[in-house]
Amino acid sequence: MTTLREAAAKKGIFMGAAVNTGISRDATYKALAQKQYNLATAENACKWGATHPQQGKFDFSNCDEIRNFTLNEMKGTFRGHNLCWGSYNPGWLKSLSATAKKAALINHIQEMAKHYGSDAFAWDVVNEAVTDNGGAQDPLKNTDWYPDVPDYIDVAFTTARAAFPKNVKLFYNDYNILDKRTKSDRVYKLVKSMIDRKVPIDGVGLQAHIGGGYSDVAGVKVNMERFGALGLDVHITELDISYNSWSQSSETEQAKIYADLLQACLDTPACKSFETWGFTDKYTWKGTNKHPLPFDENFKPKAAVSSMISVLTGSPAPGPSPSPPSPSPTPPGPKRSYDRLTQTCLNAAAITGKLSVGSVSECETLCDKQTGCTSLDTDGSDCYLKSHCEGQTGQCSGWCGYRVKTLIV
Ligand code: G3I
Repeated sequence: MTTLREAAAKKGIFMGAAVNTGISRDATYKALAQKQYNLATAENACKWGATHPQQGKFDFSNCDEIRNFTLNEMKGTFRGHNLCWGSYNPGWLKSLSATAKKAALINHIQEMAKHYGSDAFAWDVVNEAVTDNGGAQDPLKNTDWYPDVPDYIDVAFTTARAAFPKNVKLFYNDYNILDKRTKSDRVYKLVKSMIDRKVPIDGVGLQAHIGGGYSDVAGVKVNMERFGALGLDVHITELDISYNSWSQSSETEQAKIYADLLQACLDTPACKSFETWGFTDKYTWKGTNKHPLPFDENFKPKAAVSSMISVLTGSPAPGPSPSPPSPSPTPPGPKRSYDRLTQTCLNAAAITGKLSVGSVSECETLCDKQTGCTSLDTDGSDCYLKSHCEGQTGQCSGWCGYRVKTLIV
């Protein structure tokens, strides 16, 4: 049977899941992540509590474990989570003065950047800054950072832009902002103001911890499109769909919600990554009894897996069918030719996970069809599409970068 990963690769979209350090202790869990996904995020291992347990003393071991698994074993794309969050921080941070907190924030981001460079193609630079109180005057919530460091969001993004290689994408990530509502309006204003003030930001992460019965897929699309219109990428970062009671009809409904959201992402050019928060009900912050993820607690695919594969491949799912897939979002552009580079592309930003091709020209054809693709890396078998490239033309062996040379209209 086609895997999520194979089906996603053909569409050029990241299909990801949060994983945790249990990968080293559960072979079935690890194998399933590798087989089904082309992107992974550390659920907890890259947060401050894990990486910066004492002031100025860093411990990258757990975050490294997930990074290494993703890049070397999954052979996928690593997504970083997170560099600044107002909750779950180590105790030492909470007791610092405002000035010392700001210095610690800058130091943390710089050290993370020094260690991880461009290993992660994107980082959630700031997580969950906006208030849930729709009536509040102040759009920002009180946290370990705010109001002590009033400009902490700008500081975090500006520091990250200076510290990370420029191909690393910088994201704002939050919950309850999946569709258009008061909180997502506030996030929209926040990121627009950042853009207007030239504070560097590349994208918005929509967490999507939702429950059974969710139906505002039209609002999700409108929401993603308005962020896209600002020139930002959108990632669905932490999707899970919880149920208080579970039955055949819940499973069918859940499969449809997963499929409809995936379809909305495929239909929105700005939406580049579709990721669930975990992938098996065995390990989920929601609790196994909420059944929120696409694979059950015994690692068996639930109806959500076939409904999502069906959306990706355009073939009907067995059982009640999800909404019909629409045509590929990106029509072929003008005919282009490519320069072969000395090595893989320098400072390129990946816009897809690994795609399987039969030749270099097949990879080039995929690039022709993908909005924003200006370069690619391929060995004629694996193919990664990229949005940017500073490589030099010349000879190479094995892996080569290829850069769009001429546009023949
Ligand atoms: O590993 C210890 C275990 O040894 C100990 O016995 C147990 C006792 O409570 O705690 C375990 O650690 C917990 C850890 O998850 C691993 O399960 C922490 O207490 C718990 O606080 C931690 O919760 C995580 C939470 O973020 C806080 O970091 C959740 O797993 C994780 O799913 C959740 O993820 C967040 C995203 O980062 C941001 N968006 C919301 C999302 C859900 O809350």
